[in-house]
Amino acid sequence: MTQQEIIEILHDWNLWKKDIQAGVKRSFYLEKLKKMLQNEQIVVITGARRSGKSFIMRQLAKDLVKNGIEKNRILIINFEDPRFSQLNTSLLQKIYKTYLEVLRPQKRPYLFLDEVHEVEKWEKWVLTMHELKKAHITVSGSNAKLLSRELATLLTGRHLDMSVYPLSFREFLQFNTISLKDILDLVAREIEIKGFLMNYFETGAFPEVVLRENKKEILLTYFNDLLEKDLLKRYRVRKAEKLKELLRFYLSNISSLITFRSLEKFLGVSTDTIEKFSNYFTNTYLLFFVKRFSYKIKEQEKSPRKVYAIDPGLANAVGFKFSQNIGRIAENVVFLELLRKKEKNPYIELYYWKDQQHKEVDFVIKEKNEIKQLIQVCWNIAGIKTRQREVGSLFKAMNELKQGQGLIITSDFEGKETIKNKKIIFIPLWKWLFEN
Ligand SMILES: Nc1ncnc2c1ncn2[C@@H]1O[C@H](COP(=O)(O)OP(=O)(O)OP(=O)(O)O)[C@@H](O)[C@H]1O
Ligand SMILES: [Mg+2]
Repeated sequence: MTQQEIIEILHDWNLWKKDIQAGVKRSFYLEKLKKMLQNEQIVVITGARRSGKSFIMRQLAKDLVKNGIEKNRILIINFEDPRFSQLNTSLLQKIYKTYLEVLRPQKRPYLFLDEVHEVEKWEKWVLTMHELKKAHITVSGSNAKLLSRELATLLTGRHLDMSVYPLSFREFLQFNTISLKDILDLVAREIEIKGFLMNYFETGAFPEVVLRENKKEILLTYFNDLLEKDLLKRYRVRKAEKLKELLRFYLSNISSLITFRSLEKFLGVSTDTIEKFSNYFTNTYLLFFVKRFSYKIKEQEKSPRKVYAIDPGLANAVGFKFSQNIGRIAENVVFLELLRKKEKNPYIELYYWKDQQHKEVDFVIKEKNEIKQLIQVCWNIAGIKTRQREVGSLFKAMNELKQGQGLIITSDFEGKETIKNKKIIFIPLWKWLFEN
């Protein structure tokens, strides 16, 4: 490629002569990135396909300019641009050299490498640039390749990671141009907000899906891309039909307990294969498996896992029966919100709790070595029996795990209950999502 060709491409993605599209501001990630950038480490942005990584990266670039960084100190390279051929480190070096020669930044540049995993051996180049303090570097891409084991070893101690998720409910409201001043405002608009929550449950929270009309169509495209590109092609899967079947199974069983062993019969493949496929799903941020809480590691590993999906919309598009299972969607939404919490506090670990009598609590939140909170999600708490069961399980877990307080997230019910000096708090999901 000639320098002229390179500069032409770069102009399309950079702020030097024109504005670039960066969409609705996602402050949570932007603030986090700004802090990370000050740390003199390589910043790595990962997350599910279409969750908004590239847009957030551009928002950061624009924010730097707004805060006085000269436009020519910012270089954004989008390696998904098909005009770049032969993506290797010598092309990367050539692009960088061209940029330096033509734009002549006076101080250390900010380098944004989007979809960097497309470049063969990019890690070495990035590491050298970082070690020589040539540039502030931010890279982004889908998780699996970006943070492969080799890379992790190579960059140990030199990178900070941030995961991007589809929109939180708060962001979802913002994308729907609902602005809420405070909790009073939220309460005053309860009915409207609950309506939005149902949309959030049904079509989910991928930014593009939220903003566009043809939601189902987009979701199905995402699903097919994920399947074809991120799973089948990337991992060179031979038993494609089995993988598809397994993925569909998981997506139609979110918030349920599963064991690899029980799936063995159902699918007719070995547990090893099931485990391997399941790892592909978690590597691409499509699914998450939560283990049972136990002080004994062995027991923890042996127990069934709970499965959650990256987005309720995706699960619904592919076969989850939404209307019959609102409670399970609610639990999945709570799980995703807890994951976002983990972005703020990486010491958080999530488990579920279950005892010999099959009493169950949906979430045990542990921080370092301490249990911080127990959460039960119960959508229909109106029936006396259900309420007794849910409260009973939570109370039992609170006793066993020595907690003075527990939380039950509901659809509507709000209140407090004290049993033998232990406090149980009920809060509607829409409120919890906002307060959180
Ligand atoms: N903050 C935002 N405001 C408005 N639209 C957005 C925003 N973030 C994402 N989108 C929409 O979602 C689409 C996907 O976003 P983006 O390309 O940033 O995701 P990505 O995580 O980089 O995806 P990929 O893994 O495919 O590269 C965008 O093309 C845009 O339509
Ligand atoms: Mg991208």
